[in-house]
Amino acid sequence: MSKLNLSNDTKIVRHKPLARVSHWFLVICFFMTMFTGVAFFFPDFAWLHEILGTPQLARAVHPFTGIIMFISFIILAFIYWHHNIPEKNDIRWLKGIKQVLLGNEHAVAYNGKYNLGQKMLFWTLILAMFTLLTTGIIMWRQYFAHNFPIPVIRIAILLHSASAFALFTGILVHIYMAFWVKGSIRGIVEGWVTVRWAKKHHPKWFKEEVLPELEKQADNTQ
Ligand code: HEM
Repeated sequence: MSKLNLSNDTKIVRHKPLARVSHWFLVICFFMTMFTGVAFFFPDFAWLHEILGTPQLARAVHPFTGIIMFISFIILAFIYWHHNIPEKNDIRWLKGIKQVLLGNEHAVAYNGKYNLGQKMLFWTLILAMFTLLTTGIIMWRQYFAHNFPIPVIRIAILLHSASAFALFTGILVHIYMAFWVKGSIRGIVEGWVTVRWAKKHHPKWFKEEVLPELEKQADNTQ
């Protein structure tokens, strides 16, 4: 540590450019797909179609933004899947959930790059995204729906709506947590967090992944 001359304010990389670009592309496509989808689903929200000009345009755009959302998600998921495998150590986060919610996560948990809550959300998103894509293709009247019997399309519509609901509620929690844990948003926008942030929220990641990498870099420059 002293050899590296790290202080608590030293900046370290949390998200590389490809992950950040995929994430923000994903966010734009998510909101476009969500607004257009909610507008078809609930007549009270039909006015949301106007954000894309006309209802016809919104209807045409929804499946395409959905597919781009899926692709950007897959890129992000491919980068981070190995950090989201649950491990025995994550039980500490779950057992100390009360302290985690009180803002004392550092006192009870020893998190890797992601905590158990983030990991559970990650796998929920995987399930929701694949279900949305498959059922969305089955329901896509212009190109595919005529290949499927009506009962299959009905089941697809039901599963599409249920997974969209799971996705929205999961993302709502995700956005809330992103604002709650100060410094996280800067991480996904600018790519860096401080050593203090890493030690407090993800100490195992800091100790076992970031420090060895920094030591290796320091050795190579000597
Ligand atoms: C305004 C909306 C959003 C904000 C402010 C936001 C914020 C963030 C932040 C701060 C991180 C990094 C967390 C960390 O470093 O520990 C992150 C990661 C991530 N976000 Fe978002 N996000 C938003 C929307 C979305 C949406 C719509 C999706 C997916 C549909 C999504 C999926 C992800 C995924 C998969 C990760 C990586 C986490 C992991 O691998 O477990 N985000 N987001």
